Order: sequence, then structure tokens, then C-alpha cells
Amino acid sequence: MSSKQQGFDISSLFQERARKKLSNFKNRILVVSGKGGVGKSFIASMLAIALAERGKSIALFDADVYGSSTPLILGLQGIRHYIDEEGEILPVEGPLGLKVVAINLMLDTPETPVVWRGPLASRAILELAARVKWGIGDYLIVDMPPGTGDIAITIAQLMPPETHAIVVTAPNILSEVIVAKAVNFTASMRIRLLGVVENMSYFKCPHCGRETSIMGKLSGELLASKYGTTLLAKIPLEPGVNKALDTGTPYLLLEKESETSRIIRELADKVIKLLEK
Ligand SMILES: Nc1ncnc2c1ncn2[C@@H]1O[C@H](COP(=O)(O)OP(=O)(O)OP(=O)(O)O)[C@@H](O)[C@H]1O
Ligand SMILES: [Mg+2]
Repeated sequence: MSSKQQGFDISSLFQERARKKLSNFKNRILVVSGKGGVGKSFIASMLAIALAERGKSIALFDADVYGSSTPLILGLQGIRHYIDEEGEILPVEGPLGLKVVAINLMLDTPETPVVWRGPLASRAILELAARVKWGIGDYLIVDMPPGTGDIAITIAQLMPPETHAIVVTAPNILSEVIVAKAVNFTASMRIRLLGVVENMSYFKCPHCGRETSIMGKLSGELLASKYGTTLLAKIPLEPGVNKALDTGTPYLLLEKESETSRIIRELADKVIKLLEK
């Protein structure tokens, strides 16, 4: 057998094993975007925490091979995945019992760059998903890599049927083409779109309370309705988000009563309503 054939077989074996394990979650949500830097990792992590606050058992899969950042957002950088006697990778336990799985938590140090070419990175993510002891749970939240390339396709393809997606966008890149790309990606992967989250939507002055659209005024509502979906939330540009990163405490647990935290919890409630009706 050629090495190419062998490689293909190993990948399909990983795919099959991963898909079976991931089907033990009642719901799966991919957090996607047409472009990087819009806040996918922040929203995926906060949605996971907000759902856990509602008593749901949650796993968070950081599938962004080159830009894994959920460990930093959740204050887990110093921790590493443990591999048991059977060779299965145990998720790291995050706040509120979150099961966190991330390539970054497998590397020697968080600063180690991942320098794999596309096919190797796709294989690595498949192998990781297949070797994790996921257990069972209510929700699997997947922080997807930016865009709609190779790795995003690999992850979307390994999801069992009945997987949903949330498209995150920000007003500075609320271009129709970019949102359309993300929406079309989910459709082509037969993944059901729950809706759009517009992040960094506006800035509310902490002194006078006035809202300013810093990054542009293109309407997320309009774009969402154009693509036959709904705007699930408008999340403000919030200085506390980066303060939370500095303290190593997840934003939702640090700024419990803020407007942004309230909006994130409302998003979690909407998701529960849509998926558990
Ligand atoms: N609502 C917000 N207010 C303020 N800062 C935010 C907000 N959302 C995200 N950020 C910050 O913006 C930056 C990008 O966010 P994040 O890493 O979540 O984006 P991403 O879409 O996952 O990026 P990438 O495509 O690189 O993975 C981070 O520094 C994050 O802390
Ligand atoms: Mg990210």
C-alpha cells in the first residue's frame, strides 16, 4: 500500500472515531467567520461559560491550529493535556467544569509556533479529535479557524449530522461578501445556521452612556435578513474584555454584571431556546 493510501486510511479512521465520539454531545455549535480577528474565540469561550452557568455540561474545542487562543481567554495557559494509560487525551478542566481541548494545550509552551503545512495541520486536528476522551455532554462548542479553508472544511466534515453554526462578524468587516462566504460555507457543509452575532458592534461611553458606532454602521440585521437568518446578538466593544485577558479570569466571571455579560447570557438563552425547543 502506498504511503498516500495509508495516510488516507489513517485520516478516515480518525474521522470515523472522532465523529462517533462527538455524536455523544446532544448539540454541537461551530463558531465561524469569513475573516479573522472578529472575536470568534472570545464569543465561543463566553458562550461556553454562559451555557455552563445555566447548568449545561459543556466541552469547548479550540480547533484553530495556528491561532489557538481560548486557553488564554479562559486563564488556562499553564495547564497541559494529560494522556492516560490507553493513550486517550483528557480534556483540561476549565472554569465551571468546562472541558477544554486545544492544540495549544498539547504544545511544550504556548509560545511554540505551529509550523505545519495545511495537510499536516488537518491531520493533527483530526487525530486530536479522535484521541480525546470527550465523554458525554449537552453542548460541544467549536472555536473554528478563521475563514473557510482546508482545516475549517476538515472540522466541519467530521461533525455528525445535526450540527449548528453561529457566524461572528464585526462592523468593520460587515461586508456582504465576507458574511456571505461564512453563510455559504455552513450551507455547503450541511450545517444549520443558528444566526449571526455582530461583535464590537458599538461603544457605550462609560461616562455619559452614549452609544457610538466606532467601526462603521453597516447593519448586521440587514445582512442577516438578506441571507435568510437572524441577528442573535449585538455585542459592544468593551475595554473590560482585554482587562480580563490580563488578569487571567474569563470576562463573564470578572465583569458579571456588565451590559456585555448580560448580552452574552441572553445569547446563551436564545441558543438554548432554539436548540432545546
Ligand atoms: N467585544 C469585544 N470588545 C473588546 N475587545 C474584543 C471584543 N471581542 C473580542 N475582542 C478582542 O479582539 C481580539 C480578537 O478577538 P478573538 O481572538 O476572539 O477573535 P478571533 O475571531 O478568534 O480571531 P482569529 O481569527 O485570529 O482567531 C482579542 O484581543 C479580543 O480580546
Ligand atoms: Mg480565534
